[in-house]
Amino acid sequence: MTSDNDNRIRIFDTTLRDGEQAPGCSMTLREKLRVAKSLAELNVDIIEAGFPAASPGDFDAVKAIADENLGPTICGLARCNPDDIEKVHAAVKGADRHRIHVFVATSAIHREYKLKMAKEEIIKSAVGAIRMARELVSDVEFSPEDASRTELGYLAEVVSAAIEAGATTINIPDTVGYTVPAEFDKLFRYLKDHVENIDDVVLSVHCHNDLGMAVANSLAAVSAGARQIECTINGIGERAGNCSLEEVVMAVKTREEFFELTTGIDSRRLYPASRLVSSITGMHVPRNKAIVGENAFAHEAGIHQHGMLQHASTYEIMQPADVGLSRSNLVLGKHSGRHAFRDRVRELGFDLDEFETNRAFKEFKKLADLKKDVFDGDIEAIIMNVDGTSAGPWHMKSLTVNTATGQAAETEIVLVGEDGKEARRKATGDGPIAAAFQAIEDITGVALTLKNFELHSASIGEDAQGEVTVSVEHDGESYRGRGTSVDIVEAGSQACLEVSNRVLRRRARGPAPAKSAVDRATI
Ligand code: KIV
Ligand code: ZN
Repeated sequence: MTSDNDNRIRIFDTTLRDGEQAPGCSMTLREKLRVAKSLAELNVDIIEAGFPAASPGDFDAVKAIADENLGPTICGLARCNPDDIEKVHAAVKGADRHRIHVFVATSAIHREYKLKMAKEEIIKSAVGAIRMARELVSDVEFSPEDASRTELGYLAEVVSAAIEAGATTINIPDTVGYTVPAEFDKLFRYLKDHVENIDDVVLSVHCHNDLGMAVANSLAAVSAGARQIECTINGIGERAGNCSLEEVVMAVKTREEFFELTTGIDSRRLYPASRLVSSITGMHVPRNKAIVGENAFAHEAGIHQHGMLQHASTYEIMQPADVGLSRSNLVLGKHSGRHAFRDRVRELGFDLDEFETNRAFKEFKKLADLKKDVFDGDIEAIIMNVDGTSAGPWHMKSLTVNTATGQAAETEIVLVGEDGKEARRKATGDGPIAAAFQAIEDITGVALTLKNFELHSASIGEDAQGEVTVSVEHDGESYRGRGTSVDIVEAGSQACLEVSNRVLRRRARGPAPAKSAVDRATI
């Protein structure tokens, strides 16, 4: 089915499964749908939309994404048991193209300490699961978890049995980010040489970034014959994250003459997808991050600038526009019309529908009244919120702040409830944000423990909008909220109100099922 002759690499995006699994990265159902749409615009081949058996929320999110039938194959993860497999099938079958991904750990460490299963039992369980999945769907992926720390001979045995049982993709995970490129190259070549039926399947690679080598290891696997790369936007994922989609895709594209391979990714969608995921998860992209970091195309040193002026290729191996970075020095202002706004949104790589455009344009007009120049960063911040903070039950009506050096800050908040009634509270605190949080807590009755507060500037100048992301705990669960405003106290208060509303909506839905940290996805 595949061999080294097949020069097209399939991009399997697991932002919504392995990425979302990372602490602080959980997403609501609406957010997951937004990310899934952005992945479809990127033209990824497969979207791993979640782990349906993990919680009812995960199931609903995978199903909602599959039912949208966005184009890419929709995949769900399952352990080797009938219940997990049936749940994935029920969740993904709404998509024209769907896949069941089953996994079981194979390394000695996992066999002994986690599974307490013998080698033969593991093969039996994998074979049984793959056969069952194949009765339900024609597209089945199998992963021997912790493959990179599994004895090579045994790994070949497992893989061979999995192919015989009907797996159509064999994924080799470096689950703990332990391997190095030369070793991973050997592993893939070993499988190619020792598994007779290996060319009947697509060979895939799945790397974690614990030693910072996830992209390098994935590329080594590709050079040794892998034709599917599993990755996430911005490299989000467990611990140090997964292979970063934008980096691995641009490596293959930029060094095409070396790899002689292609992907189907529309690279101009990389920056908007990155911006969306960082805004939704609150995981900010470092300025110097390859491909999508703010400095990725900035040239500071005089000698570099001089070279760039002579010819961009002296210091630039990719064009900013190749990755969708079409930022310009153009500014919009309060006299800019709907057309100019919509054109700029499109140039920035975002695809808003009519409803979203109207909402974003309204926000743009409000902002343009507050600040003279509206930059690309401001417009992006508006777009990120177009779907955001409107869900109640509480909405902010007004905020008044009083601060003076050496005195406690005082904040008065007026919120409007679902019944249209206003609630007003004044509170004091060490600073205006602490006071605002207290006032919101007094009105909503939701006690929050603040774990993290991050403030970023969306554009340039003293009047730039501040984007605030807060992580809080309530009843042992973590929640995240965000807010954007030219007034940073207001942005912080919006973020606090968003999490309070999430807690209240969760409460209204009744008690959460036992193991459901991920159940926030449905809120
Ligand atoms: O890292 C890993 O091993 C995984 C598997 C479930 C593919 O995420
Ligand atoms: Zn993983």
